[in-house]
Amino acid sequence: MAFTFRDFPVAADDLRSDVLAGLAACPKSIPPKYFYDEAGCRLFEAICAQPEYALCRTERALMASRLPDIAAAVGPLDCIVEPGAGECSKVRLLLDALQPAHLVVLDIAGAPLAAAAQALAHAYPQLAVTALGMDFIRDLEAAAPCLPPGRRLIYYPGSSIGNFAPDTATALLARFRRLAGADGRLLIGFDLKKDPLLLHAAYNDAAGITAAFNLNLLERLNRELDADFDPTRFRHYAFYNPVAGRIEMHLVSLAAQTVSVAGRRFHFALGETLHTEHSYKFRRDEFSTIAGNAGWKLVDDWEQQGFAVQLYG
Ligand code: AVI
Repeated sequence: MAFTFRDFPVAADDLRSDVLAGLAACPKSIPPKYFYDEAGCRLFEAICAQPEYALCRTERALMASRLPDIAAAVGPLDCIVEPGAGECSKVRLLLDALQPAHLVVLDIAGAPLAAAAQALAHAYPQLAVTALGMDFIRDLEAAAPCLPPGRRLIYYPGSSIGNFAPDTATALLARFRRLAGADGRLLIGFDLKKDPLLLHAAYNDAAGITAAFNLNLLERLNRELDADFDPTRFRHYAFYNPVAGRIEMHLVSLAAQTVSVAGRRFHFALGETLHTEHSYKFRRDEFSTIAGNAGWKLVDDWEQQGFAVQLYG
């Protein structure tokens, strides 16, 4: 078994400065990458099990049913690189089908990533696994020296690309292009535009797990930035905006209130929003344009029940 872990700790200063800047802005906002502390990672896994949130299940079913086609289209390769790998569960299907010599997984939540990647290294004794605990949105280029030579596949499943505005998504895909190298490939999964009521329900599950995930951000700021948010005074509010083609997730203040964060005070008017996430939905052709602007050419694509997986080279 070959396993390596490197931590590029997310400076507490980043969280502090991003949150203070976001709370001083108008409208107030916090980057969605800060959802994923330990509790946030657990809540996200629970979201994926909710009946209304079909995204993860559908992608898994698509990957399982089309795996032989996908493997044939990808062709032989040396290394799979998965940014935002989390529990490292999605990549297993590809490891079985493609049998690369190397796997490099990246995630902002370093400790859970290391545990999951080590378990993977046990399960695949022929595979050299490298886990990089890093904020890849900020530090992606620091991963380059940790990659083995040879043909690479960047695997970016789960519609994570939808959490970026289109221009930022293009910039991230262009950075993936450089990391992949000239003969590299990108396999990417994204949620498709569909009935807005289905989309609305997916981010407003009856069990309240998405609400808990959104509100956990306030708990995290209380824990890590010595803040004094009262989560009962904020409402999880998520809706599909068909003009922008995205789910918008907010925490709306239920009262006029002042909150202290890292020694600074911020006022919320009654009804004022703290914006926490966008989740863009695409048509397949729309997405190909975004990827094309980042230097990727469509090789193949697959669709199942409102979800798409596309291969680029
Ligand atoms: C991780 N990301 C693709 C999820 C999404 O659907 O945008 C995060 C999420 N937010 C609320 N529910 C799930």
